[in-house]
Amino acid sequence: MNFSIKPTQVDKIETDVLVVFCFEEGIKELSDLDQKMAGLLMISAQKENFTGRNSEKLLISSKEALCAYKLLVIGMGKKEEVDLNSLRKILAETTGFLRTMKIKNIAVVVDDHLSHKYPPNEVVKTMTEAIMLSSYHFLKYKGEKEKNDYSVLEEVIFQIKPGQISQANNGIDDGKIDAEAAFFTRDLVNEPASVTTPTHLANVALKIAKESKNRIKTRIFGTEELEKLGMEAYLGVSQGSIEPPKFIRLEYKPTRFNKKIVIVGKGITFDTGGLSLKSSEHMESMKSDMSGAAVVLGVFQALKYFDIPYQVVGLIPACENMPSGKALHPGDILRAANGKTIEVLNTDAEGRLTLADAFSFATKYEKPDYLIDIATLTGACRIALGEDIAGLWGNNQFLIDKLREASKNSGEMVWQMPLPKEYNELLKSHIADLRNIQIGKYGGAITAAIFLSEFVDETSWAHLDIAGPSYAEKPSPLIPVGGSGFGVRMLLRFLKDL
Ligand code: BES
Ligand code: ZN
Ligand code: ZN
Repeated sequence: MNFSIKPTQVDKIETDVLVVFCFEEGIKELSDLDQKMAGLLMISAQKENFTGRNSEKLLISSKEALCAYKLLVIGMGKKEEVDLNSLRKILAETTGFLRTMKIKNIAVVVDDHLSHKYPPNEVVKTMTEAIMLSSYHFLKYKGEKEKNDYSVLEEVIFQIKPGQISQANNGIDDGKIDAEAAFFTRDLVNEPASVTTPTHLANVALKIAKESKNRIKTRIFGTEELEKLGMEAYLGVSQGSIEPPKFIRLEYKPTRFNKKIVIVGKGITFDTGGLSLKSSEHMESMKSDMSGAAVVLGVFQALKYFDIPYQVVGLIPACENMPSGKALHPGDILRAANGKTIEVLNTDAEGRLTLADAFSFATKYEKPDYLIDIATLTGACRIALGEDIAGLWGNNQFLIDKLREASKNSGEMVWQMPLPKEYNELLKSHIADLRNIQIGKYGGAITAAIFLSEFVDETSWAHLDIAGPSYAEKPSPLIPVGGSGFGVRMLLRFLKDL
């Protein structure tokens, strides 16, 4: 897909479809274009009762009055209600609509109202992102015919005012980096667990470093080193599998920096539940239990391309959760690397065990200013917030607010959840310091977050439970069925705006 900028007059742009926006009751603002088309636009709008309501479409042949073959007018709804998130959604829908018509080339007129309301680079970035994200498809395992039949846009021109060329070019570059990072994450999540083993994730991390021109360093810790580090909780989860665990550390370190941020991604490459075996239905999508890890890798993939003044470390405790003769038994007691003992009453609450050791490592050896984890941690979070919203917890409101701001910008929704001290009781064990599942059955996403908080010491920390939005079970304009890449664009935004 090729993006370019043209400050040419709208009627002079050669393309298959010229896309223009129209706000509700603002159709008169298209009178210049209408004049060029000898009134055809207004006549069609009237005939088809088009008034610019949100997502409305008016497709007309330009009858050679324009250099474009067709004109597509997109309804944007009320001016005061439109924002970058609604723009992203409408443009994603439009891209899907154009795909069904097998259109290859389009030109989008960057609307004046939008480029006054928001910086033009942000508008163009959002548009680039929307067009790319909605064109994503994972066809690796499909036949040639289906691969060839899948039509994507090839050429996208943004028509802008001459004074905005360099801003618009930056917008295209930023949008591409963000969308490609999300693709990277989506691809990893969509691959089956037989491919994305812990060793595979480690190799992906090594490849990112290798291709980064020394901007990113990767180190992999194997079983022996993990034993030396005392990561019994993480090793316990891994012990039922024949796949060896790989603890992955990625680092971006600019010459000058004033903050250090550690991002931990849950990397269970397949979650069967272990001996507390999941039902077939619940196991179906568990190849996606490494979505947090895939987000961390997506973030580092993007960090190859732009500078930020912070040191960023990614940690991924990757392993597989399998039942076997060597697997953890319910009732086993494990000692995490920070010395705390955990009674494992349910081997399906495994993510928190791996994160406990990654946090212990982070607080002991990394000493970050901010520690963020991103994890498909609990089904309970999906029940609480649904499939589109991630749960957000933390012990530092500044950090939480920064993540909320970033989420508003990227359009990946989060909702802050509580860490009530009153619930600490629910994680007390008779025999160890903690139990890995709560007493009773309600509030499981909260007690999981409380469990994690036991391993962060005084570090400023935030936790994102992405069990809901990491994997789309139904398609939407921006996301086909499968890995969504949720969190990558938000975290990149967070890193840029901190
Ligand atoms: N990986 C799951 C959580 C999950 C569920 C992610 C659905 C995505 C979609 C996690 O390891 C898990 O199994 N959690 C258990 C915890 C329970 C045993 C306390 C759960 O949510 O049922
Ligand atoms: Zn589990
Ligand atoms: Zn899991």
